[in-house]
Amino acid sequence: MKFTVAIDGPAASGKGTISRKLSEYFGFSYLDTGLIYRFIGLKVLSGFDPLEAIEKLNYHEIEVDGLRTEAVSKAASQVASDRQVRDALVEYQRNFSRRCGGAVLDGRDIGTVICPNAEVKLYITASEEIRAARRFQELSIKDKDLTIESLISELRARDLADRERKVSPLLKAEDAVLLDTTELSIDASVALAVNTISKAIRLST
Ligand code: DC
Repeated sequence: MKFTVAIDGPAASGKGTISRKLSEYFGFSYLDTGLIYRFIGLKVLSGFDPLEAIEKLNYHEIEVDGLRTEAVSKAASQVASDRQVRDALVEYQRNFSRRCGGAVLDGRDIGTVICPNAEVKLYITASEEIRAARRFQELSIKDKDLTIESLISELRARDLADRERKVSPLLKAEDAVLLDTTELSIDASVALAVNTISKAIRLST
């Protein structure tokens, strides 16, 4: 079966956790496209040319360790505004989305640019305060100097850059289902998404 779930939304909206749980529930493959941009961002911080880094990229070797820092988030967002960088990453993402057995992809332009014909599109969001609080919980264990205030301004600046860039900006696709997780637990959010996807699977078979 080929079935694509396209998930977009702002930074720290919970889309990564929800996407992973959905992929486990339905037995679909999962691609966190933000990790690819983070990996290229990290390479740029170490002095590499982004396009050369993409040429040499082995998608299976992208490690999560060290990719979730504020510096890498910023570098990822900057590198993601480059049209050539984005173009060079389209084919891999599209091929992934049509894998047999179904696929979940999350990012910023999945429903709008990468998979405009996805069977299900979700746009996951939450208030700025909740997103910063969730990210704080995740990162403050390793980074004792981190403050909620610095996280809020980092998220705000990054969302603004991701929304206002010319190429593939963060945007809710017209046909995406909005899932606001501000007042929802992860489990409740996943349950709503499971409902939407199950209905679409029934309709497609
Ligand atoms: O989802 P994330 O926070 O890990 O993504 C890091 C940055 O990468 C984000 O600020 C913008 C960029 N990105 C993008 O432009 N397009 C995607 N499909 C995924 C991420």
